[in-house]
Amino acid sequence: MPHPSPPTPHILVTGGCGYIGSHVVRALQERGDSVVVVDNLCTGHPWAVPEKVLVKGDLADRSFLSQLFSSHSIKAVLHFASFIQVGESVHAPLKYYDNNVAGTISLLDAMSEAGVKKFLFSSTAAVYGTQATVPIVEEAPLRPGNPYGRSKLMVEEILRDCGQAWGLETVALRYFNAAGAHPSGEIGEAHDPETHLIPLVLQTAAGRRDAVIINGEDYDTPDGTCVRDYIHVCDLADAHLLALDSMKGGSGNRAYNLGNGAGYSVRDVIDACQRVTGKSIPVKTGPRRAGDPSVLVASSERITMELAWRPRFTSLDKIVEDAWRWERKLAGK
Ligand code: UFG
Repeated sequence: MPHPSPPTPHILVTGGCGYIGSHVVRALQERGDSVVVVDNLCTGHPWAVPEKVLVKGDLADRSFLSQLFSSHSIKAVLHFASFIQVGESVHAPLKYYDNNVAGTISLLDAMSEAGVKKFLFSSTAAVYGTQATVPIVEEAPLRPGNPYGRSKLMVEEILRDCGQAWGLETVALRYFNAAGAHPSGEIGEAHDPETHLIPLVLQTAAGRRDAVIINGEDYDTPDGTCVRDYIHVCDLADAHLLALDSMKGGSGNRAYNLGNGAGYSVRDVIDACQRVTGKSIPVKTGPRRAGDPSVLVASSERITMELAWRPRFTSLDKIVEDAWRWERKLAGK
């Protein structure tokens, strides 16, 4: 009698119905990886992933996780599920520590029990806070200026401890500003409420908002508005595949920055949106937003050198073009 074939090992993606997670799920599936997505759908969208890969559940529910790991053969975990709003984290820190830190501990505990030892973590440029030297390298001092960034840094530290204690192999990808959308126009950013600059500017261009409010024009930057490093979400997705493939056992606990190395101010972004959409976009000046560092620009040399990552969509106008295609589609959803 032939032996039954062993179960296909899956990549577990938490928060796979969110903005970045859903683009990574698509990239994994396109190259033939078998994926299972866990999402509690508190901010994610079920339409963002194929229905058959989605398991609805919460990372805080430890027995749900035990059941999940015992009913699937999981070879690696990509962990996206978290709250992401810098401003909100300043006003509701416990919400962030509970979901982002305690939720991750629950997940790691279930992984330890199941013997799964590869973990790719969605970290953030917010672990750096305001730095004297830009572009920012991974060795820069880690001093997050808000609870969101601190919650991500705490997890990075926990990962190193788990590496020491039970051989957990980890990569933390420190994203700068994820932007754009899948060029197919099928998936993209859909936060509710939306707080991110590019979608808000494009919604204003589309006439769905009255004006863009610039959060402070008195920063120590060339035009007084905050400077960020915008990176196309599909370039982020590529980096996840490379990072996953680089975990072959014994590669420790690593961190990589992900950005394009170019800083654009809030006003630069508004100008790019005007160019791409051909619309004149009304702008008002508001106060600073709590927790915002003035400049965040990445050096991504480490991931370029070690994993041969090469971003494909580096122009701000291309990023905005893809976001604009998506924004018009989303308006009709
Ligand atoms: N901004 C405005 N007006 C708006 C919205 C945003 O002026 O209506 C400004 C913000 O104050 C900030 C810049 O535009 O200076 C970019 O803001 P986003 O909210 O788009 O992005 P953040 O830089 O605050 O945060 C993003 C992610 C975080 C991540 C961070 C790292 O949401 O998860 O990038 O750079 F930590």
